[in-house]
Amino acid sequence: MVSVRPRRLLMGRSDDFVTGFTMTLLQVLRYPDPRLRHRARPVERVDDEVRRLIDDLFETMYDAPGVGLAAVQVSVDRRVVVVDASEDKSAPLTLVNPEILGREGEEESQEGCLSVPGVYEMVRRAERIRFRALDRDGVPFEADAEGLLAVCIQHECDHLEGRLFVDYLSELKRRRIRKRLEKQRRQGVEAPAPKRREGTVI
Ligand code: NI
Repeated sequence: MVSVRPRRLLMGRSDDFVTGFTMTLLQVLRYPDPRLRHRARPVERVDDEVRRLIDDLFETMYDAPGVGLAAVQVSVDRRVVVVDASEDKSAPLTLVNPEILGREGEEESQEGCLSVPGVYEMVRRAERIRFRALDRDGVPFEADAEGLLAVCIQHECDHLEGRLFVDYLSELKRRRIRKRLEKQRRQGVEAPAPKRREGTVI
């Protein structure tokens, strides 16, 4: 059955991500929510329920906007990740049970995270990776990535282990970020919309 999301109609929004299927924007957990520290469980079978989760993750990621989102960030304890490192939402990539097989080189780039809104810091990661995963049909594949895509995949795989990019920062910096976000939550401050030019929001 095909239906249209009422929210889009009410807001009169023209969106380039209209698929005709009903999707849901999921609530993204914010640091220091302890659920972000869970190690996600592997997906045993990529079925319709998992595909629905994948669709919702893409919808939520594009809406934010971000370039990556892991299921653990929306309180779903599964090893499912979506990524789109393109400028124009043209390269959606689904990774179920992803594994990084090899890492090469090093580079430092500015990262942000939908779960740590408004924070952008330099993080050092491998420049190139080889990875494998299942796609949205449950078919295994293996590929290489470099640049922004490699950063995204490493960042998302960290989420599946309960690790956040702030873990790479100094204790002092992390404490400051934690205090700032806790204060924002107490005051009911909405997360600032990520600005792409400030860094990659993954
Ligand atoms: Ni993130």
